Formats: sequence, C-alpha cells, structure tokens
Amino acid sequence: MIQSLKGMKDLLDADGKLYERVIECASRVARLYGYSFILTPHLEAVELFKRSVGESTDIVGKEMYEFYDKSNKQVALRPEGTAGVVRAYTGAKLDKMGSTRRWFYHGSMFRYERPQLGRLREFHQFGVECFGVKSVYEDATVILMLRQILNELGIKASLHINSLGCKVCMSSYRELFLSFIKGKKGFCKDCEHRALHNPIRMLDCKEQACKELLVGAPKMSECLCKECKKDYETLQSLLKGEEFICDDTLVRGLDYYSKTAFEFLSDELGAKAAVAGGGRYDKLVGMLGSKEGYGLGFAIGVERICHILKQRQSETKTPLVYLCALDECFLPELFELAGRIRQFKSCILSYECKKLKKAMSAAALEGACLFVCKGEDEAKDELFYKDFNSGVSAKLSTDELLALIKELG
Ligand code: HAM
Repeated sequence: MIQSLKGMKDLLDADGKLYERVIECASRVARLYGYSFILTPHLEAVELFKRSVGESTDIVGKEMYEFYDKSNKQVALRPEGTAGVVRAYTGAKLDKMGSTRRWFYHGSMFRYERPQLGRLREFHQFGVECFGVKSVYEDATVILMLRQILNELGIKASLHINSLGCKVCMSSYRELFLSFIKGKKGFCKDCEHRALHNPIRMLDCKEQACKELLVGAPKMSECLCKECKKDYETLQSLLKGEEFICDDTLVRGLDYYSKTAFEFLSDELGAKAAVAGGGRYDKLVGMLGSKEGYGLGFAIGVERICHILKQRQSETKTPLVYLCALDECFLPELFELAGRIRQFKSCILSYECKKLKKAMSAAALEGACLFVCKGEDEAKDELFYKDFNSGVSAKLSTDELLALIKELG
C-alpha cells in the first residue's frame, strides 16, 4: 500500500471539520478588520525566499523543498506565506502607488523538519498581511485581531512582544552583541555559523549551553533609537488591556522583521510552542519593491490550533445526538424527530434497527453525547434517552427531550 509521506497528513472527518472551523473563524474576524482574501502560488522562485526569509535561517538554509523544474529553473515550495504576498503586492506595483492593502490567506506551507507533535513537513497557515501603513496603531490592531481569533476559538496563549529596531539601531545593537560574544567558547555549531552571518539569531537558540553563554547579553530594548523606542512604548500602551510579556530574546525565525515582533505561545502542545507569530517587515517591502514601503502581518499554525481543540473535544464528548429505532415501526417517528433536532443540534439517525445494547455501543462509537431510542417498552409519546457524559438515563416525552437537547453544551 502506498503511504503518505513522512510529516504530511490527511485531514479526515473530525480533523477536516476542525480545519474548516479554524479557517472560517479566522476569515470572519479578518474581514471585520477590513482584510480580504488573496491567493498566491505554492511554488515560487528559490531566490524569493533566499532574499526575504534569509539564507542564514533554518527555514531557508536547511528546511526548504527546492528543486529544478523541467526548464531548469530553481524553484521552491513555499515555506511560509509572507514572501509570496509581498511579491504579489510589489509585482502589481501597488508599492509605487503607495497603496494600502489588507489581505488574508490560508493554505499549505512546506518545511523539511523532523516531524513531531505540532511540527509537520506540510502544514497549514492562516495569515494576514497589511501593506502601506506606517502607524504603530496597525501593529497593535493586528495583534488584537489575532487575540480575537484565538479567543473566539477558545485558545489560551501568552503574548510575547519585542522590538527588533530599525536599520540604524539594529546595527549598533549588533556591534554591542558581537563584542559581548567575542572570546566566548562553547556555542553550538549552528550558533558559530549564526555568529558569522546573523549573530542576533543566536538569541533564538534552544541549546542550553548557548542560552547560558548568553546570560547577561545586552538587551535590544535598551538600544532602540528614539523613533523605535517611542513606537515600542506606544504599542505597549495600546495593548494595555491585554496581558503580554516584553521578551528581549524574541527574534523570530525569519530575517525580514524590523520593529514589532510578536508570538502567541501555548503550553498545550507538549513543550511550550508558538501557535502564531508575526511582526513588521518594512525593509522587505522596500527590498522586493522599488521604494521604501510598509508591511506587517502574522500567521497562525492551523494544525497546532486544531491539536489543542481536538484534545479538548476528547475530554468532553461532542453534543451529538444518536437516534435509533429498536423496531422498524418506530423509524418514521424517529425520522421526523431527527429533522426537528437538526434545527439546532447535530444528530444521526440509524436506519438499521438494533437491540438496545448494540444500538448504544454504535452511538458511543460515533462519539455521541446523547443516545435516544424507541422500542416496545416505551409508551406512545415516550422515548428512552441516556446521557453518556453524566450517565443519567430516563424516559421522556418528545417535548421534554427536545428541551433537554436544547440545553446541551
Ligand atoms: P512562523 O513563525 O515561521 O511565521 O510560522 C507561523 C506559525 O506557523 C508558527 O507560530 C507555528 O504555529 C506554525 N508552524 C511553523 N512551522 C510549522 C511546522 N513545521 N508544522 C506545523 N506548524 C508550523 C511565518 O511563517 C511568518 N510568515 C508569519 C508572518 C506573517 N509574519 C508576518 N506576516
């Protein structure tokens, strides 16, 4: 039998439903903030990601699916969505016109990583990108939009923010950081490489030895220029209704950020992991376009959100009603009842009449929360029900049963 590739998953039944739910919720909220849908290709020129995400990042340096197509052009499956959307914006010359655009997208991203919980080789992101807006108010707005999406989905995650400064303050921070690490020995191989190409990225290293060597490193927030400092303070004041952590070590795994960077972290994924992240990338718009531009956004890891939601679902059974006639003569009555229940709750009717015990195990197998049946033991307007969550069972009239089902969470 041909199996799916390592780190690539089919989304069947409940997984497919959860995926739809996340995308539907995120798209609806994004529209409330003035964002509209954009679709860009999965396959792009390798150069796009090298220039935007950065050659020294793990995403481009180690994890990209890249190959030569039939006309010998070097192409890559997109490891993330931002670069393609910026290419679409600058390609349409919208940057030249100074146009504002607010777009959202969702779809597959590809990273050749070691598959584990919450880490796939083909995964899905829901992302938003906003162009042409310089104000830090928009930075606060996209963070609040992301918080709203997570809240509506019932995801608890802690917000970490940082400012990565601009060209001016970042280069003086880089000098300071380089003099701090000078002479220090014992960094991992990756950090030795980062020290040469992008030293700030060392702050993101997960190796304990590297973390210890960086204790006492100069803080980015203390090196910001006047404008970046003011924007960072404004951002914090705009988020004052939210709980957040100012995290000087938050550098993100992609090179294109400047000023605002943020992540939402959850500990419902085994180890603490990001369910979403983003930031401002003005220099990238300038780099791929012809003049200085403004861009910012975020992306949500859809599978990570689905994993959290699924865990919760298995803790409390879904409010699904399962109906079964114990004798064929009751089927028309239950058929009609199923129609009434479906006006407000999901419901399955078995067309096959079964004995009580068999019918109940079929209902449990379907993940039902409430089992309802009718047999010879029930009076004319009477039905038998069992609530699988509470274990309660009784006989009720149709109206009583409908009232009870309405109450189900
Ligand atoms: P990112 O932090 O690389 O940012 O990815 C965003 C989210 O995608 C992560 O927080 C995580 O939830 C999910 N994710 C990343 N890698 C994997 C994986 N291998 N398997 C499953 N989920 C994963 C970006 O991609 C930026 N483009 C975000 C952005 C948009 N910044 C500005 N605009």
